[in-house]
Amino acid sequence: MRVASVVGARPNFIKLAPVARALASRRGVEHVVVHTGQHYDAGMSEIFFTDFGLGLPDYNLGVGSGSHAKQTAAILERLEPVCVTLQPDWVLVYGDVNSTVAGALAAVKLGIRVAHVEAGLRSGDRTMPEEHNRVATDHLADLLFAPSRDAVANLRREGIAEERIAFVGNTMIDTLVASLSAARELRAARRYGLPDGGYLVVTLHRPSNVDDDARLADLMRGLRAIAEQIPVLFPLHPRSRQRVEAAGLGRQSGRVRCVNPLSYIEMLSLVDTAMVVATDSGGLQEETTFLGVPCLTLRPNTERPVTVSVGTNRLIKGGGDDLAAAALDGQLARRPSIIERWDGHSAERIVAVLCDGERFD
Ligand code: UD1
Repeated sequence: MRVASVVGARPNFIKLAPVARALASRRGVEHVVVHTGQHYDAGMSEIFFTDFGLGLPDYNLGVGSGSHAKQTAAILERLEPVCVTLQPDWVLVYGDVNSTVAGALAAVKLGIRVAHVEAGLRSGDRTMPEEHNRVATDHLADLLFAPSRDAVANLRREGIAEERIAFVGNTMIDTLVASLSAARELRAARRYGLPDGGYLVVTLHRPSNVDDDARLADLMRGLRAIAEQIPVLFPLHPRSRQRVEAAGLGRQSGRVRCVNPLSYIEMLSLVDTAMVVATDSGGLQEETTFLGVPCLTLRPNTERPVTVSVGTNRLIKGGGDDLAAAALDGQLARRPSIIERWDGHSAERIVAVLCDGERFD
């Protein structure tokens, strides 16, 4: 059996790692990794392959950055001949980025079966580029690996047949579970001179937060106010760095400490000992919930509602003032949560479905 994973952006690599390990443990299964090249900076891509021991991708399509249409079209065009050569039994796609939907479309058009890891998430927000990627990918794919019960319910509501859905849990949490002791040994907070349990880590990269200068300036004002009280560390996604610099906000960051993107282990270590995390990332909402670290999500909605209803996540629908008020209100407490099948074994379930035809309802 030959399985091809198509990945392209930072969160994809984190979800791929445990699946690659579980597939490698199966005799008679060949796993080929195709990197679209959507993310290409060493700190956004290569470091993850090295740190997770994934080796180099078997193919790199080198599509790079571009508009949604250009990026998606380039992936379609360059992936098709690779799929024709490989003739995999399954193409696996991950998450909700442009590489996900393009990978699924290229494969199904060739009659190759597609499985979607992290299926069924819905924010209901059609202004979000990822929402279209999620819906389209789920309806293209033959097999849908859902991370949570709400995701299963979304798929059922959209009329997807029961036999196409498998409730396997969350592969991003598999990676967290496998990495936590190394992250704790690293004690990254000390390296940055941050007091254990007494600082805020922030990440922002969504177009809705960083592409609008007024919105970004308002959020930076909120972060500066927080940094007057507790240290604030801001690892900057390249998209956000460009926007911060273009808006002239780099010089006005005050005590907010801006750094380059961090390695997975370093970031996990810093999140684990933070007082609070502020973010618009999907993965961090889940990781903080698992760890019990309070998370303030700078979005009006989330496709991961379980992190709010069961976990530590709170949506901040307003701007910088609301963020500062929530971060500094003294009400934040650590509270680890247990979410069904977020147990470090999701990738094993995925491989059991693919290779043994097992069912997970
Ligand atoms: C993409 C995903 C988003 C995901 C995020 C994780 C889509 C539509 N968006 O957003 O869902 O949460 O990845 O990080 O797929 N850039 C670099 N170096 C890189 C990559 C990007 O400088 O290695 C810069 C380029 O200027 C590029 C911009 O960042 O134009 C945006 O990159 P892109 O891949 O289009 O989207 P992300 O914002 O990274």
